Amino acid sequence: MGVLNNRVQKCVKCVRKYTDFVPKTAIVLGSGLGNFADTIKVESILDYGDIDEFPRSTVAGHKGRFVFGYIESNPVVIMQGRVHFYEGYTMEDVILPIRLMHALGAEKLFLTNAAGGLGDGFECGDLMLITDHISCFVPNPLLGKNEEEFGVRFPDMSEVYSKKLQGIVLDSARELGISMKNGVYLQLTGPSYETPAEIRMCKLLGASAVGMSTAVEAIAANHMGMEICGISFISNLAAGINETPLCHEEVKAAADAAAPKFQALVKLAVSKM
Ligand code: HPA
Repeated sequence: MGVLNNRVQKCVKCVRKYTDFVPKTAIVLGSGLGNFADTIKVESILDYGDIDEFPRSTVAGHKGRFVFGYIESNPVVIMQGRVHFYEGYTMEDVILPIRLMHALGAEKLFLTNAAGGLGDGFECGDLMLITDHISCFVPNPLLGKNEEEFGVRFPDMSEVYSKKLQGIVLDSARELGISMKNGVYLQLTGPSYETPAEIRMCKLLGASAVGMSTAVEAIAANHMGMEICGISFISNLAAGINETPLCHEEVKAAADAAAPKFQALVKLAVSKM
């Protein structure tokens, strides 16, 4: 067994001491959506701290735990608090939770995040269906020796965000009367927000939303053959588009305000997956 897979399997062993729950869908909660997990039928909760070798989140407002439970009849594992590259972790740490959730049984991955909006007509509070991503100045999480247990050396990336799951999200939004934007998510490392010049660059590259997570998680999940979808919550307009300076508290407050519609959408969509 490869070194990385060995670490994942050690984590699996640790989780299995607490629960034998087998999730089908993994959900990663972005800033402000942390309490989504309180609204589902919970079977068990496991703090990241209880898993040996597991990286821990250090960002204020990010809880670090897995919540196992059901959304309708769909068994899910929810990551309440993710691991960001800007916290100083290696890419191996950043994507370990994704590999762990897959190893526990999850075949689908629903990624959510808070992001800065730069698409034409985007407004604060919008929800954007992620149709594709650009991983920009961020190390590829698959660098290094490839472990075939996870996937092939050169994974195809032509449909990272499943068209089928995108359709389910759009149908669910329609059913709930929620209007959706769609577009390309661009990941930079952070932790500084972008300059107006960098946002102009992002726009030239074809991005509609910018953030500090998600793309690398999607790369790792795609490598393992997971079916992926993602939604960005536009918590602010990106630098230079917005007149006011960006601050983390405002981003979180905006995410909290839109949490009900975001949560309703994720719930309905996951119940159909
Ligand atoms: N830029 C990068 N990441 C973010 C932003 C932003 O404007 N808003 C929320 N996450």
